[in-house]
Amino acid sequence: MTPHHLQSAAPPRIISSMNCTKCKTKAVMKLPRHNAAFCKGCFNRFVQDQVLKAIRSQEMFTQQDRLLVAVSGGKDSLALWDLLLKLGYKADALYVNLGIGGYSESSQKKVVHFAETVAAAYGSVMHVHTVEREEGAGIRELAMMVHRPTCSTCGTIKRYRFNHAAIQHEYDVMATGHNLDDEAARLLGNVLHWQHEYLEKQGPSLPASLDGFAKKVKPLYRLTERELAAYCVLNRIEYVVEECPMAQGARTLLYKEVLNRLETESPGTKQMFYWGFLEKHRKAEAPMSMVDKDRSTLHPCSLCGQPTTADTCSYCKLMVRAKISTPH
Ligand code: AMP
Ligand code: FES
Ligand code: ZN
Repeated sequence: MTPHHLQSAAPPRIISSMNCTKCKTKAVMKLPRHNAAFCKGCFNRFVQDQVLKAIRSQEMFTQQDRLLVAVSGGKDSLALWDLLLKLGYKADALYVNLGIGGYSESSQKKVVHFAETVAAAYGSVMHVHTVEREEGAGIRELAMMVHRPTCSTCGTIKRYRFNHAAIQHEYDVMATGHNLDDEAARLLGNVLHWQHEYLEKQGPSLPASLDGFAKKVKPLYRLTERELAAYCVLNRIEYVVEECPMAQGARTLLYKEVLNRLETESPGTKQMFYWGFLEKHRKAEAPMSMVDKDRSTLHPCSLCGQPTTADTCSYCKLMVRAKISTPH
């Protein structure tokens, strides 16, 4: 099987001997799951349409809202920032420097480059949070201090910092670059382990159920990794191709490979799986009930005040275990 990093993160070779399904000029990109091929212009319109469809159908935000996009330097989140700006939304970015040596340095450079060469022209700004400075140690060191896997430590810090920044700077919505492959792989994992409580929160738009919790959205859930990499290449968006060195071997990568196998055999499987789940979930549960559930189970963390189900939130627990006290 092709290693995941070659399959998804490397820029795709964009060639097609076919003509564009829409305008009949030479196509640059084939999309088996839509039984179509597009030229650059029609492909860009297709990508924008998918994002608009996601934003509108899930009532994510409006042109009046101020958005904070979590941008990692990878193809998905840079494409998302680019798309939101081009579609006329007010979108600033947050980059979290995790302190993972050369990987963090090169990803920050890509975000800064995009901020200066593209986003600045839209009046959009970039916030940087540096974990080594603010949390007192890089992600790997923190994980060792608390005897937890690096990825889960990283997840806790990122989730906390994304929400914290959105609330602190009074953004209406927090957006991440999760794509169809990410969401389908996560769904597969949650279904295989029957993680019922996670299944409930797998939607691409999570309301701000409580003060202190920003609304969170995933406007790229209708687009695949391959399509987003192609979008970056065609639009000359420079992104970090390498995966985080800590992510190798993670379960999600295996699920992605399995889904890619299924997709090759039967195009459309990924979207059928994830979008089908969303449709069934929408019919089964009114969105308000999740808000009500959150309201009844969440309360302010005794240390930082962010909403949590326990006495202290997982971020504060982590910092206490690492014996680091941070200014909130
Ligand atoms: P991942 O969990 O690495 O697949 O990332 C999912 C999404 O989280 C990305 O598309 C970004 O929106 C966001 N993200 C991940 N890492 C960072 C980071 N270091 N700084 C800002 N946003 C990030
Ligand atoms: Fe979090 Fe790699 S991105 S450990
Ligand atoms: Zn806390």
